Amino acid sequence: MTQILEVKDLAVSYGHIEAVKGIDLTLNEGEITALVGANGAGKSTSLLAISGLVKPTRGTILFDGKDLAKLPPHKIVSSGVVQVAEGRAILTTMTVAENLDLGSYARRDKTGIAQDLEWVFSLFPVLKNRATGIAGNLSGGEQQMLAIARALMAKPRILLLDEPSMGLAPLIVQDIFRTLQEINRTGLTVLLVEQNVRQALRIAQRGYVLETGKIVLADTGAALLHSPRVIEAYLGG
Ligand SMILES: Nc1ncnc2c1ncn2[C@@H]1O[C@H](COP(=O)(O)OP(=O)(O)OP(=O)(O)O)[C@@H](O)[C@H]1O
Ligand SMILES: [Mg+2]
Repeated sequence: MTQILEVKDLAVSYGHIEAVKGIDLTLNEGEITALVGANGAGKSTSLLAISGLVKPTRGTILFDGKDLAKLPPHKIVSSGVVQVAEGRAILTTMTVAENLDLGSYARRDKTGIAQDLEWVFSLFPVLKNRATGIAGNLSGGEQQMLAIARALMAKPRILLLDEPSMGLAPLIVQDIFRTLQEINRTGLTVLLVEQNVRQALRIAQRGYVLETGKIVLADTGAALLHSPRVIEAYLGG
């Protein structure tokens, strides 16, 4: 198993509050890794640190021989680590197609971009049907799909997602999780942050449980689903 990203002793503070307290986390290439935990556990902060949007107080984030903790966000994106924003953050006054174009703005491989556009349209046919429509007119679930599709247009080697299920109806959530599995089957490595612990661990090969800034459990997704501690704390045990 090739390790594609290795987080070591990562700590992040907001003023005097240490939100992430020295975590170790490894992503295996081609796998979905879930990072789960309760409200305020430090999940988003960990993702933001990997994306370079908050600066860690200590630790390293090794990817491709580089320490991402030392790089600015745009260099992290261009190296292939791309986050789908929480709350979607699509540009609501622009069209679906324009939003997708923005995802690929840093690429020069026109043929590859055209192929990836066909690919994201096959993953999310609704986006193809609504390509010339204003993104703000999409439903919440469709906007989440657009946010994922836009991130894919950047040709990531690692896709980071912060609670893609948030605020969506159960059927839409299932749809999005199924599509994440389909995306992962192409070999793309995924780090999935979720409060929807059951669904996340079902599709993840490995998972980490974060509690008040510390990793308390790390195992395969299947083993965590059967862990008494996970069942009691997160699955309504
Ligand atoms: N910008 C900020 N300034 C100060 N404290 C913050 C900030 N963002 C997060 N925190 C605090 O850091 C801790 C971790 O927050 P974080 O958002 O990473 O947790 P989370 O696991 O993503 O939670 P949620 O499930 O609610 O999204 C919390 O105590 C939170 O209040
Ligand atoms: Mg969060």
